[in-house]
Amino acid sequence: MNAQPTSQTAAVRCRSVHKHFGQGDNRIHVLRGVDFEANRGQLSFLVGPSGCGKTTLISVIAGLLDTTDGKVELFGENTEDMGAEQRILFRRRNLGFVFQQYNLLPALTAAENAAVPLLAAGVKRQEAVDRATDLLVKLGLESRARELPNKLSGGQQQRVALARALVHEPRLIVCDEPTAALDHATGEAVMELLAGSAVHPERAVIVVTHDNRVFHFADTIAHMDDGRIHRTEHRN
Ligand SMILES: Nc1ncnc2c1ncn2[C@@H]1O[C@H](COP(=O)(O)OP(=O)(O)OP(=O)(O)O)[C@@H](O)[C@H]1O
Ligand SMILES: [Mg+2]
Repeated sequence: MNAQPTSQTAAVRCRSVHKHFGQGDNRIHVLRGVDFEANRGQLSFLVGPSGCGKTTLISVIAGLLDTTDGKVELFGENTEDMGAEQRILFRRRNLGFVFQQYNLLPALTAAENAAVPLLAAGVKRQEAVDRATDLLVKLGLESRARELPNKLSGGQQQRVALARALVHEPRLIVCDEPTAALDHATGEAVMELLAGSAVHPERAVIVVTHDNRVFHFADTIAHMDDGRIHRTEHRN
């Protein structure tokens, strides 16, 4: 069906991707023919003005939204060729997503929230929570691991969401504004953790950001406007 993925293939390849929302007079055309690639071993930034389609594009890449038209390949596989169940398993195994609005589960502690992908993969509860706690310690949240999300600041919740995206060591990590709620030093620490992940030759990280304080971490910067990528800068 599909060629076997090799380390030469891009982690993400989007070709002529279109996405509409709504019907009839209310229909809006948000992605207007996006061509985008993210390579393994790299930190790829996606930047552009508010409303240009960044969250929509990464949601399509992550399989949270279907495309209206065009092709999305992850590690050489076209996810639209998979059945529904296979697609869910592929996504669960290969993808970590940090949402713009965090989406933590309110009844679970910070460590339990961060452990969710491991629990979903069948890891025993105590081991999953211990591994999640280790990651929270690296993110400076040692003393907050047993708190519920509503006891955490926005920046602390953001780091719990990041831990949840990294804990199962997925091949693709997609982050929507991961440093927006963070002070400069914490933002640098979060980006260092992400850059450290991306250096792994089989793994790719995509970061949507407005935060020009962290642009120096990028290997590539794709500039998006009005539903298209109009320029890609290669930094390294
Ligand atoms: N589910 C939806 N239904 C209808 N319109 C939507 C939906 N999701 C997004 N849009 C519209 O699509 C456009 C792009 O939204 P998107 O969230 O992708 O922008 P963005 O670049 O991430 O912006 P920001 O930087 O503010 O987060 C906006 O006009 C938005 O209102
Ligand atoms: Mg957005």
